[in-house]
Amino acid sequence: MKIYRNIGTLVTPVGKSALRGEAMRKNIVSVKNASIVVNDAGIIDDAGSNLKFAVKIDDVVYPNAKGYAEEIDCKGLLALPGFVDSHTHAVFMGERSNEFCMRAEGRSYQEIAAMGGGIRSSVEKVRNATSEEIAQYSQKFVRNALSLGTTTMEVKSGYGLSTESELALLAAAKRVGELTGMEIFRTWLGAHAVPKGKKQSEYVEELINEQLPAIVKEHAAEFADVFCDEGYFTLEETERICIAAQKAGLKIKLHADELADTGGAELAVKLGSYSADHLLKITSDGIAALARSERTIATLLPITALCIRSPYAPARKLIEAGCAVAIATDCNPGSSMSENMQLAISLSVIGMQMSPEEALTAATLNGAAAIDRAATHGSIQQGKFADFVLYDIPSLSYLPYHIGVSDVAAVVKNGNIVSGSL
Ligand code: NIG
Ligand code: FE
Repeated sequence: MKIYRNIGTLVTPVGKSALRGEAMRKNIVSVKNASIVVNDAGIIDDAGSNLKFAVKIDDVVYPNAKGYAEEIDCKGLLALPGFVDSHTHAVFMGERSNEFCMRAEGRSYQEIAAMGGGIRSSVEKVRNATSEEIAQYSQKFVRNALSLGTTTMEVKSGYGLSTESELALLAAAKRVGELTGMEIFRTWLGAHAVPKGKKQSEYVEELINEQLPAIVKEHAAEFADVFCDEGYFTLEETERICIAAQKAGLKIKLHADELADTGGAELAVKLGSYSADHLLKITSDGIAALARSERTIATLLPITALCIRSPYAPARKLIEAGCAVAIATDCNPGSSMSENMQLAISLSVIGMQMSPEEALTAATLNGAAAIDRAATHGSIQQGKFADFVLYDIPSLSYLPYHIGVSDVAAVVKNGNIVSGSL
């Protein structure tokens, strides 16, 4: 047992499932002069005010009980739960800054893809690399994420688009976890685009009859995802792929209504998907479906909206309708070259008018719910993993306010400092 004591302020959402609607800002606690007690398995044994852990020996009150194997002085810093980045494509090869510049000149994401850029151009680079090379290349992004306060990350494949290369990406994602100490949950996104030289219908059959069985056999992923959008996979194709994946034992996540409203959010709810992601073009029917759903999280990716120069997703409408909203980076070489959850939070507050409390819940507990981990991750509570971050900032609102600059002092994963120092 060890104790992190002398935390200036501890701020956390509270819950073991997603928070919806106004609970996203109301179910937040803020405790001054706090401590966190961690057991030998890296689980939070208790958390709360210093006084709760004080002991009286011969009428002298000591701030914390002796008898902990280790006492770590948090020097009055502010503690928040580690971010759960529930949507990334963080294993890839190469870079596409040329596309970034073309968008600045006014070309759209779809135009650039049609000109030979986009997802397919990353595929060529991935297919020319080994799994170990992909892991070595990608680890720096994941290490950055850890140092910026992310302690749990979902990582998708989707730049292989063949059985062999999708397996190589998913193996690389696992390896990156070992190399960096990031906890990674994996998603198979074979249905990210149709590879060159294949017909759409032919590729859908390959996904269902070849890739999916291989992914399941190798235990390479927990979730399956489909880029359900105009120019990528239709609603009917998405439904077929997802039902096959569910039958094979995978859980579902969906890219939905990013480039056009195709009814992706409604399909996500119908399928019992853990999340519907992007939602830039969602309509009132999609919002109503998500508000009714007990499972599907509305995952918003504001860095992508910024980079593809699209209006942001309607976060206020979603929250006011009673949806559970998460935010994530979408870290990928095309539409969001950032592994920085703090930036996603700043954009959520500035661009989507979320409150800092809502953005915190979205980046932690609701992100955990989007990868089916709300019972164990995403808040500083007894029984959850001791994943928290100490910041040199005076209040929660300072986090989005200090745009693009990190005030992280130390990152604690499973009870151990894995980045920074105290
Ligand atoms: O989530 N929307 C689909 N996939 C990625 C983009 C991938 C890429 O352009 O490489 C996204 O934005
Ligand atoms: Fe994505």
